[in-house]
Amino acid sequence: MEPWKQAEMAFENTMAGTYDFHYYRSPISKAHLREFFNLVRRYAVPDRFVLDVGGGTGAVTERLLRRGYRRIVTVDLSLAMLREAKKKMPELTAIVCDGEHLPFKDDSFRTVICSSVLHHLPFPDRMLGEIKRALAPYGVVVAQEPNQSHCLSKPRFSQVSGVAMGLMHYLYRIEQYEPVSEPPIHEYHRAFTRDELVSLFSAQMFILDFRSRFAFSCLFTKLHSPMMSRMILAVDRLLRGNEGSVFHIVCSKSEGGHRTLLKNYLRFLEQLRQDPDQRMPGAFLVILPALIVLGRFYEFYERVRQKLGKSVY
Ligand SMILES: C[S@@+](CC[C@H](N)C(=O)[O-])C[C@H]1O[C@@H](n2cnc3c(N)ncnc32)[C@H](O)[C@@H]1O
Repeated sequence: MEPWKQAEMAFENTMAGTYDFHYYRSPISKAHLREFFNLVRRYAVPDRFVLDVGGGTGAVTERLLRRGYRRIVTVDLSLAMLREAKKKMPELTAIVCDGEHLPFKDDSFRTVICSSVLHHLPFPDRMLGEIKRALAPYGVVVAQEPNQSHCLSKPRFSQVSGVAMGLMHYLYRIEQYEPVSEPPIHEYHRAFTRDELVSLFSAQMFILDFRSRFAFSCLFTKLHSPMMSRMILAVDRLLRGNEGSVFHIVCSKSEGGHRTLLKNYLRFLEQLRQDPDQRMPGAFLVILPALIVLGRFYEFYERVRQKLGKSVY
């Protein structure tokens, strides 16, 4: 095994027992996780296979299971991390493996989650290439990664970040927060810049959604007080036009994600409007979506009828 994978495995094995305590204990980190989870739910289809690559202690998968998703597979390099996940979810399908060599056939998963994994790797493109292979043609990857150059790190925000740091130390002192020692992280671990992440993903897939979140609250992820946490999170909303500390990325193997389909359709309607000669053949395509919607309604109606046990004839 390559040295960086050994270093990563050793680090995660040491962290496993206290991982949730470090990263998911405070109301602010829970709010960050909730936001990412809501994004995952927008794309993950309950009765299709979902893969969580580098799933760790199962922070995201646990929530999916609670919401009734059943076809979830988690893979991770670290056995200790997956053991923690299994303690919480004995029913979880968990496989110890390297995300650069996934033990699945091509086009197996409708959704792949990749939460805070790529920034641990010296060659994130390798894992992303493997994820793409295992992803179904119209499947979607939902990922999050830390932002190296978020707004509080920029000179024009130096005063804001100075005040934020002061506030952070003050609040942590009131709460008597004792930083629990974490093992030293290895040299391959670093946050991404926006440009790095855009070129990493767009080199392999089509980016459907890309945004940064949490401009302010990233400094307070160990805060305990629910009331203070709510106030800190409200400041994120004030700074939402600026670079946040975490990137949320959604991308697809095929360009025909539903947004692109809608965009192409609207472009087509615009062309029709400008070119009267195309109106006759165009009319058919205009009514096509209406027919598809009607078809879906009919399918739903039939299912309800059959459930109620009434004969169709
Ligand atoms: C920061 S943790 C994130 C855990 C989880 N996804 C979450 O959001 O809480 C990174 C995880 O990626 C896993 N990992 C790192 N390199 C990996 C690789 N090559 N293959 C599979 N998992 C890997 C680590 O073991 C660790 O559990």
